[in-house]
Amino acid sequence: MSQSQLEPPFVPLAFERLAPEQMLARARAWREELAHRRSVRHFAPDPLPEGLLEECLLAAGSAPSGAHRQPWTFVVVRDAELKRRIRLAAEEEERKLYTERISDEWREALAPLGTDANKPFLEIAPALIVVFRRAHELEDGQKRTNYYTQESVGLACGFLLAALHHAGLASLTHTPSPMAFLSELLERPDNERPFLLIPVGYPAAGCEVPNLRRKVLNEITVWR
Ligand SMILES: Cc1cc2nc3c(=O)[nH]c(=O)nc-3n(C[C@H](O)[C@H](O)[C@H](O)COP(=O)(O)O)c2cc1C
Repeated sequence: MSQSQLEPPFVPLAFERLAPEQMLARARAWREELAHRRSVRHFAPDPLPEGLLEECLLAAGSAPSGAHRQPWTFVVVRDAELKRRIRLAAEEEERKLYTERISDEWREALAPLGTDANKPFLEIAPALIVVFRRAHELEDGQKRTNYYTQESVGLACGFLLAALHHAGLASLTHTPSPMAFLSELLERPDNERPFLLIPVGYPAAGCEVPNLRRKVLNEITVWR
């Protein structure tokens, strides 16, 4: 029997319709939980509970994607020597960014974050999740297009950040620029492009974060 005979092309949707008050309570609780997510740049070296990243990565992999191509690869780096090499390469690029490539406008935008070219967290965080975008697939030597890969991988990363936060972990969305060194150090194939570098772990004791204001509802919505 072929695979298509074994698996029906459509299956019933698993969907539970909730009472309005329960929906509102869930929406509020989720909003409040997400409001506490912050980008963390000071990590403790403590190891992560067994199996936790796997759950969060599966949550990321449940994101919608253009034509269901699932155009993402998550490389989890825990090896100390590899993390050190990533830190050194990232800092080299970031030094050039902060001294040569950065515009005055960009420098001004980054000022409230207090960031600079030093990235010790890349070595200290117990895990780095390096997300790659699969521009296309290679099947039997033929190129197969993936669709809306930026949007799809962005969504998967959003799911991942929310899952990590929900699991009780801190993370940073990091984009050392440019990121080609990640393809080289992690020996990724030509069809994969580095997308984000996400250090994951527990915040260091006494960790501080920039005092940022988030836009309120009427600044981010238009209702018609
Ligand atoms: C696409 C993207 C790229 C980012 N790149 C960096 C980065 O390279 N370094 C860094 O320290 N933070 C980076 N951030 C984190 C932002 O600075 C942070 O999300 C923003 O200041 C809001 O803070 P919050 O995440 O704590 O709400 C990035 C965020 C996004 C979404």
